[in-house]
Amino acid sequence: MADTLTITDNRTGRQYEVPINNDTIRASDLRQIRVAPEDFGMMSYDPAFLNTASCRSAITFIDGDKGILRYRGYPIEQLAEQSTFLETAYLLIHGGLPTQSQLTSWEGDLSQHAMLHENVKKFMEGFRYDAHPMGIFLSTVGALSTFYPLAKDVDDPASRRLQMIRLIAKVPSIAAYAYRHSVGKPYVYPNKELSYTGNFLNQLFKQTEPIYQPDPILERALDVLFILHADHEQNCSTSAMRNIGSANADPYVSLAGAAAALYGPLHGGANEAVLRMLTGIGTIDNVSTFVEGVKDGKERLMGFGHRVYKSYDPRAKVIKATADKVFAITGRNPLLDIALELERIALEDDYFISRKLYPNVDFYSGLIYQAMQFEPSMFTVLFAIGRTAGWIAQWEELTSDKGRKIARPRQVYIGEGQREYPPMVER
Ligand code: SDX
Repeated sequence: MADTLTITDNRTGRQYEVPINNDTIRASDLRQIRVAPEDFGMMSYDPAFLNTASCRSAITFIDGDKGILRYRGYPIEQLAEQSTFLETAYLLIHGGLPTQSQLTSWEGDLSQHAMLHENVKKFMEGFRYDAHPMGIFLSTVGALSTFYPLAKDVDDPASRRLQMIRLIAKVPSIAAYAYRHSVGKPYVYPNKELSYTGNFLNQLFKQTEPIYQPDPILERALDVLFILHADHEQNCSTSAMRNIGSANADPYVSLAGAAAALYGPLHGGANEAVLRMLTGIGTIDNVSTFVEGVKDGKERLMGFGHRVYKSYDPRAKVIKATADKVFAITGRNPLLDIALELERIALEDDYFISRKLYPNVDFYSGLIYQAMQFEPSMFTVLFAIGRTAGWIAQWEELTSDKGRKIARPRQVYIGEGQREYPPMVER
C-alpha cells in the first residue's frame, strides 16, 4: 500500500493522489483540487488549529491520551526528580544534556548576564504602583530590544546565542523588579553566589539582612516548577513566539508577544484565575454548588481541561507531590482542601468525564506559589520565567532553519461582494 491519500472530488469526478508523511498531508497539496481552471484551489479550514501541525519540531513530545510529556526524549517526571531548571533549559535549547563542564560554563554565562541596565529601573518607575506584574514583565522584555539592537541580526548564530543567554538570565531580575515595584521596595541586585532560582528568591524577598539565604526546600520546589513549565510544544504562546519570529523579529519582541499570549486566563493566566476561583468558593461546603454552576455554563472550572491532554496532566501530578514538601515548610494552604474536593467531585461527574476534563498544570501550582508568599498577580510571571527556556528553544529551532518562511495564514472570505462607494447623502 502506498503512503498516499486518494481524494475524489465529487463535484468533478476527478481523483487526486496526495502524499502522506508523518501521518499528515501538506495543506498546499490540496490547492490542485479545483472545479474551474481559474479557481484558487482548495484550502483546509481549521480555526484555532485544532488539527493542524504548524511545524516540525524535535524539542517536546506530548501524548495527550497517555499523559506523556518528554523534553528531548526525557520523561518530565525524571527531569523534575533529577535535573535542575538550568540543566533542563540547556537540554531544550541544545538538544542534549550537558557535561559538567558545559553546565558550569552555561551557569557562568547566565550568572554574568543577570544584571539589568540601570535605565530599566527608570521606565519601571513609570508604571502605576498597582500595575499587574505581567504587564510590566512583557513591556520590559520588549523594551530590552532597544538596549540590544544587534539582536536584529537573527541569522548570526553567535548573536542569537548571546540574546538567548541574556533573556534567560534577565527574566528573573525583570520579574523580581516588577514585584518589588508593586510593593514599593528597593530593587535587589543579583547575588552570583546563589543558584539561579535561589538568586531569584533573593531578588524578590531580601529585606535588610546583609545576605539573603533561600530556604533550600522552597528553592528546590520552585526550581522543579520552572522545569515543569519550561516547554509544552506548540501551545498558544509558543505559537505566538514562532509567528512573530517568522518575520525575523528579534527574540526580545518575539518573547514579549509570547508573554502577552501567556497572560490570557485561558492559558498561563489560569493559575492566577484558579486562586481567585478557590478563594471565591470559600469553603468545601460551597464546592458542589460551584460545580453545578460550571455544568450550567455559568462558571468555568479554571485549572481543568486541556486542548491536548485528555487525561491527567503529568505536570499536575508532580506539582501535587511538590505541594506536600512546600506545605511542610510553609504550613498547609487551606485552599488545598477546596481544590482536592473540586477534583474529587469533577473526576466522578459525567460532565467532566465525558469531556475528558482533568486538572492541568495550573490547578495546583497557584497553591504552592501562594504558600511561598507570592501574590496571585505574580503567578503568570513565574510561569513565564520557566517558559522562557521553551520559547527560546522553539525560536532557535525556527530561526536556525534556513528554509523558514513568514507565517501568513489564509482565510475564508464571508464578507460583502464588490459595491460602489455611496455619497454621504445616500447612506
Ligand atoms: C495552559 O496548550 C498548552 O499546552 C497550554 C499549557 C502550556 O503548558 O502551555 O498546558 C498551559 O494553558 C493550561 C490550560 C490553562 N487554562 C485553564 O485551566 C482554563 C480552563 N480551561 C479551559 O478554558 C479549556 O479547557 C482550555 C482552554 C484549556 C482548552 O480549551 P479547548 O481545547 O478549546 O476545549 P473547549 O473549550 O472546546 O472545551 C470542550 C468542552 C466544552 O464543552 P461543550 O461546549 O462541549 O459543552 O469542554 C468544556 C467546554 O465548555 N470545558 C470546560 C472547561 N474546559 C473545557 N467546562 C468547564 N470548565 C473548564 N475548565
